[in-house]
Amino acid sequence: MKTLNDVPDNAKKVAVGVLQGILVDSTDLTNATRQAHWNVKGPQFAGLHKLFEEFYAQLNVLTDEIAERIVQLGAIADGTTQTIGNTTRLEPYSNKILDGLDHVKALASRYAAHAKTVREGIDASDEAGDTSTADLLTEHSRFIDKSLWMLEAHFQK
Ligand SMILES: [Fe+2]
Repeated sequence: MKTLNDVPDNAKKVAVGVLQGILVDSTDLTNATRQAHWNVKGPQFAGLHKLFEEFYAQLNVLTDEIAERIVQLGAIADGTTQTIGNTTRLEPYSNKILDGLDHVKALASRYAAHAKTVREGIDASDEAGDTSTADLLTEHSRFIDKSLWMLEAHFQK
């Protein structure tokens, strides 16, 4: 769509592609984190149940910013369930996991994978000339790294 936003067309195109992929993965990660919040069992229940809630609440805020950046750049943000399921780059989250530490490990591997993709997206959008998208993704990246640290602290020796 036409917009007065003067980010160059090629930069818009690259950034929208990057952002759409991260919108999908981030939504999938939100759902996996909610799955863990609902079903976690074991002695660490109270702490993990609350921690997972904090994670998905913040992911919701960050994902909203990503979707809205897509629209600011003149494209359509596609967050439909069908698109999430068909295009997510994250491993499917098992609906059989119960144990707290199993959830922590399953989430840690997905937060790590997402962090890597987001970092690649920062470089791609920066190189294409959209520094605002790179900045938005940098904020996203900081949160994912911090969350990964909090998850890994449960099983690092
Ligand atoms: Fe809840």
